[in-house]
This record gives sequence, C-alpha cells and structure tokens, in this order.
Amino acid sequence: MKQKKRYVCKECGCISNSWLGKCPECNSWSSFIEELIEDIKFVQKTNGLTTKPVKIQEIETTESDVILLNSNELNIFFGEGIVIGSVILLAGEPGIGKSTFLFYVSNNVSKKNKVYYFSGEESDKQIKKRFDRVGNNDSPIYLSNCADIDGIIDIAQKESPSIIYIDSIQTIYSKQIDSSPGTISQIKKCTQELVDLAKRTGIIICIVCHVTKSGDIAGPKVMEHMVDVVVYFESDFKNQYRVLRSRKNRFGSIDEILFFEMESDGLHLITNPSTFFLESDTDESVNGKCKSVIIEGKIPVIVDVEALVVPSSYPNPRRFSEGIDLSRLNRIIAILDKHLNENLNNYDVYLNIAGGIKTTDVGIDLAVAAAIYSSKNKITINSSYIFIGELSLTGQLKKVFKNENRQKEALKFGYTNIISRNDENNMSVDVKIIKEVVS
Ligand code: TYD
Ligand code: MG
Repeated sequence: MKQKKRYVCKECGCISNSWLGKCPECNSWSSFIEELIEDIKFVQKTNGLTTKPVKIQEIETTESDVILLNSNELNIFFGEGIVIGSVILLAGEPGIGKSTFLFYVSNNVSKKNKVYYFSGEESDKQIKKRFDRVGNNDSPIYLSNCADIDGIIDIAQKESPSIIYIDSIQTIYSKQIDSSPGTISQIKKCTQELVDLAKRTGIIICIVCHVTKSGDIAGPKVMEHMVDVVVYFESDFKNQYRVLRSRKNRFGSIDEILFFEMESDGLHLITNPSTFFLESDTDESVNGKCKSVIIEGKIPVIVDVEALVVPSSYPNPRRFSEGIDLSRLNRIIAILDKHLNENLNNYDVYLNIAGGIKTTDVGIDLAVAAAIYSSKNKITINSSYIFIGELSLTGQLKKVFKNENRQKEALKFGYTNIISRNDENNMSVDVKIIKEVVS
C-alpha cells in the first residue's frame, strides 16, 4: 500500500497536502519538507489548563519563583536562577556534550530539587555510567525511558519533580500525531504538551534537541518560538572547549555566554577565558602574531591572532581563515593594499585565531591587519602590544563597543601598550598606525 505523505513547514509547522514554495503562514521560502503519515487513530485529549482570567496586579511573585543553582555563573547565565515553570531548549550537534551538560546542571541543583531524566536515546545503564563519570553530588535524579509524551506527563503530575530533562525531543512521540518521532509535527506537538505541563505545574523542563552544523535540521526553529529560553552548545570539535550561548531568554539577557572544557570527568567551567585562549609560549621573535581583545557575549577575551603571509605560486592567491569570516579577511587585505600599499595580490594569506575561537566581533580587525603586516614584512610585534578596533573601508580606525571593558581586560593581564581609538585620540587614527607600532 502506498504510504500517505504530507508537507510541513520547518519554520512554523504549517501543514499542507502538497509541496509549497512559500509558506502561506510565515512566508518562508523553500521551507516545506515531506513527512510520512502513519496509520494511527486520533485520540481526543483535553489538558486541564484553567482559563479563567486573573487580574495582573493580583498575581503574587516571590523569590521562590526561581530555582537558584549552586553556581553563580549558571545563575547569571539563566538570569538570576532558573524561573520555575520555564521551558529551556538545549540545542547542539550530536556528541557535543548536551547530555553531559544536563548532569553539570544537576550537580549544581540543591538536594531538595527532584530531577526526572527522560531519555529515549540511552539506556538507564548508559546514563548511570555517565553519571558515575561526571556526577559528584547526591541530588535525587530519577531515570525513565518513557518516550510517550502522555506517559511523561502522567509521571510528572504524580511525582511532582522540580526539573525534567527530555533527552531528546527527537525520540519522544505523541499518539495523537500520525507521523514518526522526530518529524516536525511530532516535535511541535510534544513541545506544546511540555510547555503546557511546565506552565500548569511550575516544573522546569529542559528539552535537548539535536541540530546539524548549519542549525537547519527540522524542528528547533519551530520550537524556538514556543519555549522561554534557547541555549546553543557550540564547538568546532577540534578543541576541548565548548561554548554555551544564550539565543533567547524571556527572563534574562541574550548576551550571556559560558565557556567549558570537556575533560574525562565531564564539563568544567572556564572561569578566565583570557588566560585559556592565550598561547602559552612567549617567544618574542615570531613574526605574524599579535593580540586583541574580543567580546564574546558580554565577556572580554584576550586572543592571539596569527597570520602567515607567503609569496603565492597560484594565479589566484590563497586566502584561508580560521576564526573569522573569510569575507572579513578579504576586506582587511583590501584595506592593507589600498592604505598601506602592501600589494598582497602576490601573496597567500593564512589567518588563525589561536585556541580555535571563532568570532564575529569586528574589534579584531586591527589585530588581523597588524598580524598580516608583521608576517609579510618579517617584523616582530612586541608582545606588550594589544590591538583593538574595527577598520572602515577608508582605513580609519573605528571605536568599538565595550571599548573600556576591553582596555580594562588588557591592563588586567599586563598589556600596557593598547592600540585603539578612544575619545582622546579621535579621528586621527587610521590603519597606518600599524607601521608606527610594528617597526
Ligand atoms: P554527550 O553529552 O553524550 O553529547 P550529546 O548529548 O550532545 O550527544 O557527550 C559526548 C562526547 O563527550 C563524547 O564524545 C565523549 C565526550 N565526553 C568526555 O570527553 N568526557 C565526559 O566526561 C563525558 C561524559 C563525555
Ligand atoms: Mg546525548
């Protein structure tokens, strides 16, 4: 028998019997993907939400409306603790450490908060093994392999845990939806049920969701609209470090970021990213290397920028960038060509930010330019210098946001020669300053 199909918009979950180029609900283009319909009977279900309107002034809020974690950093990350009844989406590539992070949070939850861990991905024994590896407190964690959303809701209502983990949304299903677990219809329905549960009972629910590198896999986009907090776990897998980034937070700021190191006994918070990302060798005689301060989330981080500039044997010289966007590198090369007459057309340029950090912060421009200049002209940059600033196309140095924080961080680590534009040295600073410093 031919299986029936339908098409679902991966941005908003809109359903259509035929493929549509443009979603009639959210106007996204090429967002419809195919789903197979399975032969499951529809079950009518009501949820017991009360709908009587309440006057807003009569609603009491107290400090106990949040669960405070034992880690200040986590509390700040989520916005003064985790608000009860909130739903958190934890997204990231498979294998990045999402399940390990759930235990990291549990280790910071006080013993009076019961945690229920629903895993459709791993057996109890596998999860216990990970717990033994990383768990270091005796806060009550209960495991269940229940993957039926109705079963999960039943257990939650009977046992009243403080926190529920769903690991992962792609493995749970609702019998009311006639498609397989992991499809957009299932993800949307199960997330909606979990949001209802959280709002009705005050249970905090953390939902794990796998995404691909492009973040384009069906599901998370639909979920992002429904949940209160969206955090992404990121890494390029070449390094031990992981970045936890807040993308949406109804109760806090979205500038928050935490750096972790994945070790054999789980995740460890990096409390001082500047020392973590700086290269330990202090060889003064190396060309093509200098320092900058970037802002990641709200945190200033000192980084080493490395450039290698060599005569090219290709008709089109090579440009290779790890850490910043390639188009940004090309733009900086063009600025050096035009305003410092560097004629980089005959040179290959390789750029790297040590430690594997990736940034979109334009405050790194000047350091990138200085490192390229240093490598091409074989002139060493004194290691007491730090370069901060965005370069405009006219070669001017622009002031960057949080300039004071950056300078403070530089001074804290003993970099006294800060090259940046601030209010005192106004319009006069341009890319030529590199020539004065690197000589
Ligand atoms: P995991 O949390 O299972 O990732 P996810 O849930 O996002 O798929 O972590 C998987 C990786 O982390 C795995 O490659 C092994 C590594 N790891 C460590 O290095 N140390 C540890 O203590 C743990 C638990 C995992
Ligand atoms: Mg996992």
